[in-house]
Amino acid sequence: MTSPISTHKHHDILVVTSNNPPVNALGAAVRQGLVAAIEQAEGDASVKAVVIRCEGQTFFAGADITEFGKPPVMPWLPEVVDRIENCSKPVVAAIHGTALGGGLEIALGCHYRVAVSSARFGVPEVKLGLLPGAGGTQRLPRVAGVPKALEMVTGGGMIGAKEASDLGLIDRLIEGDLQQHAVAYAEEVKDIRPLPKSSERDDKLAEARANPGLFDDFRKANARKFRGFEAPEANIKAVEAALAKPYAQRVLDERNLFMGLMAGSQARAQQYFFFAERKASKIEGIPDDTRPRDITNVGVIGAGTMGGGISMNFLSAGIPVTIVEMAQDALDRGTGTMRKNYEATAAKGRMTPEQVEQAMGALTPTLDFAALADCDLIIEAVFETMEIKQEIFTKLDAIAKPGAILASNTSYLNVDEIAASTSRPQDVVGLHFFSPANIMKLLEVVRGAKTAPDVLVTAMALAKKIKKVAVVAGVCHGFIGNRMLMPRQVEATKLLLEGATPDQIDRVHVEFGMPMGPFQMADLAGVDIGWHRDVNRIENIRDALAAEGRWGQKKNAGFYDYDDKRRPSPSARVQEIIDDFRTKEGVEKREISDQEIVERTLYTMVNEGAKILEEGMAQRASDIDVVWIYGYGWPVYRGGPMFWADTEGLDKIVAGLKNQEARMGSDFSFSQLLLDKAGAGEKFTR
Ligand code: 3HC
Repeated sequence: MTSPISTHKHHDILVVTSNNPPVNALGAAVRQGLVAAIEQAEGDASVKAVVIRCEGQTFFAGADITEFGKPPVMPWLPEVVDRIENCSKPVVAAIHGTALGGGLEIALGCHYRVAVSSARFGVPEVKLGLLPGAGGTQRLPRVAGVPKALEMVTGGGMIGAKEASDLGLIDRLIEGDLQQHAVAYAEEVKDIRPLPKSSERDDKLAEARANPGLFDDFRKANARKFRGFEAPEANIKAVEAALAKPYAQRVLDERNLFMGLMAGSQARAQQYFFFAERKASKIEGIPDDTRPRDITNVGVIGAGTMGGGISMNFLSAGIPVTIVEMAQDALDRGTGTMRKNYEATAAKGRMTPEQVEQAMGALTPTLDFAALADCDLIIEAVFETMEIKQEIFTKLDAIAKPGAILASNTSYLNVDEIAASTSRPQDVVGLHFFSPANIMKLLEVVRGAKTAPDVLVTAMALAKKIKKVAVVAGVCHGFIGNRMLMPRQVEATKLLLEGATPDQIDRVHVEFGMPMGPFQMADLAGVDIGWHRDVNRIENIRDALAAEGRWGQKKNAGFYDYDDKRRPSPSARVQEIIDDFRTKEGVEKREISDQEIVERTLYTMVNEGAKILEEGMAQRASDIDVVWIYGYGWPVYRGGPMFWADTEGLDKIVAGLKNQEARMGSDFSFSQLLLDKAGAGEKFTR
């Protein structure tokens, strides 16, 4: 097998090139090749310096994640980085694309770093439940300073070349041919001794030692963000260890912390999710050569919260939008909100005022439905009733140009029935955005019975362009995400009658790692959503709350009472309402254990997920996990409901559901797939 690492000499500079598509991951062959190249440089007296560079789209994007969990193949990455740093001749990293994780660690092991201005740098290991385990937690603070290193290792985000250069992470920014300039740079530095080694620097650590409260302040400031995760604290500890010398000892601490994380369930879940997210974009049963349609402009019907948020996605990606409303005041309100949202983003420094104007300048607000005639994609975001949707699609059918994609943002309704109101059901698809649509990453792409393959391919490609993660769902009530929410809601409400409190149920969910529980979510979304608006028709607890104006946070009262800072506290009035209902329904009050709440609200979701799979409404179990992590904040360190069920053991899930079967009554029925898999000792996910 040929090595992915090749070398060639340019006068007295040895140029080492990695060619390991798609992202130059640092697999065993790359690691072996790099060490061999350094040995070659050491053994050749005519070589005065070394340049390490990559072919293809990027510099090394990190360790090869597919090797994790397999028997290790030598040399380990930390040894490779040390070997580079200990080379007796200067080594220059020539960086383009993204130097990530182990890739940045390789760069930090080099004595010098040059990069093109589009290059980006990061240590995303924390997102895989890990820490930079090849000296990154030790070298990065020494080069970039402790505060920046802490931010980078715990956040996992990327910084641009300009910032990297300002921090001293990059020695020179290159305009023009990277290889040529890197070789020229190597010529400049080839005789300088001693060689600058990141591991030996102490100036920036000394700055941090002068501020001993730095670490605890950082922990406190980020406590909410890190809640439930193991990796951020391990990253902080590793950086903290860097302050105490000697380096060789601290690097062992890093190794131990790395191995501890790697052996844990969170890292397994987060690494599973890395591949789950990428798999979600692949559509089964579609010819590989299916080409997407061109989308150069988009129409949006409805300038409400959803329509406005949806439009912003396209505008931010530079795609012009025509937005249509029925009345001028609604149109003005909608576009006003969009501008306000953009300006708030600009105020936080995440957009320039020019970018705000550019985005808003690409928006055409109108009351004229016929203005949609030229759009390549038209997304309807109006009231959630079939009649209205069908009326709109019939109108669209009459005016949209041939080949235009007609999409509905419905969150529950039957996309096939909507498509049937047109003469071109092959062009109709569901695009279910999640609120706030300009922020939430998830997009459910609902595949109708007649949706054409190229329409689906277009939707997936477009999702990537607007920085969403798309998951294909079949036509069923609530698709993947909202459908699984239903059994949870039904059982949570019944548990209130049986003796649990909103507070107890929400606490169980929050302790599990959800951002909020079902009743906190109801208060946030609005208790009045979907309410029939008849104050005399009180058929359940929710009706009673809505009739009293307890509509949730917006009214400072819902399932909880809220103070003027929107802090919730349990409500005596809500408890009275629950008690009244209990008496009326003749339900006996009893102690409800936290475990029962888990079994009736979370195990039932797994059961519904299994039904979705067995009906073919999701392509794969991992797609369901992607929906719940990106759409509803399921804790990523538990890998999503289906991965979590596998981790718990499907036999345990079935046993828990059997415990509760009688209490759940006719609201519950087992998924045959779940029973079969549990019986056979199988898993949903690999
Ligand atoms: N190992 C193995 N495969 C990887 C990989 C990695 N580090 N990074 C990406 N891939 C694969 C993806 O799975 C995908 O495969 P597929 O085509 O079969 O689905 C393919 O490469 C392309 O990836 P993307 O679809 O993500 O391509 P993009 O162009 O959108 O993004 C990227 C490129 C920014 C490099 C992105 O892939 C990425 O963020 N990769 C992960 C980087 C990372 O986490 N590095 C740290 C690894 S852990 C580590 O280094 C430990 C060390 O400290 C000891």
